[in-house]
Amino acid sequence: MFSKETYIRRRRQLAERISRGGIILLPANSEAPANYPNNTYHFRQDSTFLYFFGLQQPDYVGIIDVDSGETTLYGDDVTMDDIIWMGPQPSVSAQAAEVGITSTAPLAALPEVLTKAIRCGRPVHFLPPYRAERTLRIARWLGLNPESVAAHISIELALAVVSLRESKDSDEIAELERAAAIGYEMHTTAMSLCRPGRVEREIAGAIEGVALSRGAGVSFPSIVSQHGETLHNHNYSGILEAGRLLLVDAGAETTMNYCSDYTRTIPVSGRFTTRQKEVYNIVLAANARAFELSRPDTFYKDIHLEAARVLTRGLKDLGLMRGDIDEAVAAGAYSLFMPHGIGHSMGLDVHDMEDIGEKYVGYDLETQRSTELGLSSLRIGRRLRTGFVMTVEPGIYFIPAYIAKWKKEGICTPFINFDKAEEYIGFGGIRIEDNILITPDGNRMLGQHRAPATVEEIETWMAEHREP
Ligand code: GLY
Ligand code: MN
Ligand code: MN
Repeated sequence: MFSKETYIRRRRQLAERISRGGIILLPANSEAPANYPNNTYHFRQDSTFLYFFGLQQPDYVGIIDVDSGETTLYGDDVTMDDIIWMGPQPSVSAQAAEVGITSTAPLAALPEVLTKAIRCGRPVHFLPPYRAERTLRIARWLGLNPESVAAHISIELALAVVSLRESKDSDEIAELERAAAIGYEMHTTAMSLCRPGRVEREIAGAIEGVALSRGAGVSFPSIVSQHGETLHNHNYSGILEAGRLLLVDAGAETTMNYCSDYTRTIPVSGRFTTRQKEVYNIVLAANARAFELSRPDTFYKDIHLEAARVLTRGLKDLGLMRGDIDEAVAAGAYSLFMPHGIGHSMGLDVHDMEDIGEKYVGYDLETQRSTELGLSSLRIGRRLRTGFVMTVEPGIYFIPAYIAKWKKEGICTPFINFDKAEEYIGFGGIRIEDNILITPDGNRMLGQHRAPATVEEIETWMAEHREP
């Protein structure tokens, strides 16, 4: 937990950004059953609640009265039954005091407070709920139909929270550095374990073990697959084969839930083939170009398009694309091979604040989300600012069904050599993902060490560290 002054300051700044006055309603997450009520998923606190209240307790609700400036934490002290099953817990008021709150009340007192505010015509500001039970609770507290909750979210609150959370302060950067260090260990562990005959699951289990032993576990379910062309592949049943590539996309959360998110694509045999190297080096060049360009005031959309230019040029050299490079990029032709954006922001969420809405996080009045081919999957297009933490994750994938679809429908035919693309079916996919902090002069990579990234670095690492 950060200092109590940090949480007091954040709540004050939040209230100052709400010009309409009223009440800010920030619920914690609840435990979520996996397969029966008492067998819950690993508890994950709501990130916005963590940002303003720092507490890992389920079911609390934070209320900030914008007009009086007072914060109240609603929650119930544990019962004897809770103590028997979960051990002793500090009281609500003791936990509140740790984050600078002096006013607490039982949860049962909350509906009355909200009802009274509504009766007096005061706005109750809340963020888009992303779990069904929160939607139901908000509906019950505010007298809304659950179906209409989404229509009542506070855009003013969404924008205010984003404006505070988007730039990371020095305390947060220190946490993100810790998450990066765990990510480094996860990926070098994968490189050490990768060899023909291993099952993907063994590597997934080992690296997720690293995440749990050093922090709060993974920041998203790890992707460990020879089918790297399936972007979010969570199947771990493949047996590693010499000659294939293994794509590992994995990251960790610190105990305070700050995230990392790295991808490395490595040769199962320990050495890339010439063909793999050719494609790999195009992706690496796009990744490097994004670092060169990432700085305050640059539009992330332009970095995406510049990386797309590098990919297109490289794919043209290999005979997979053709035609004028700028025209091909403008048409979105590269998205046959990279059907995702160049990256996203990261912080307390691996896709930071995606629950609040990409519309508010990644775009603004100046930069609207595009529906065009190549840009429609870009999670953030707006200008970068100092303190933003971003992923940079270009890739090239050969997705058989997607190649077949484009060929059949004649999509971007002037720019794609489909016969050549079909020769790469079975190649898999390559993604190289790093995490950067935008600094006043440009950017720097998070983490003390960068996990091996060039062909030579990966081959050398695998030659020196691989388990027999
Ligand atoms: N691991 C999900 C992503 O890279 O965005
Ligand atoms: Mn990733
Ligand atoms: Mn990512």
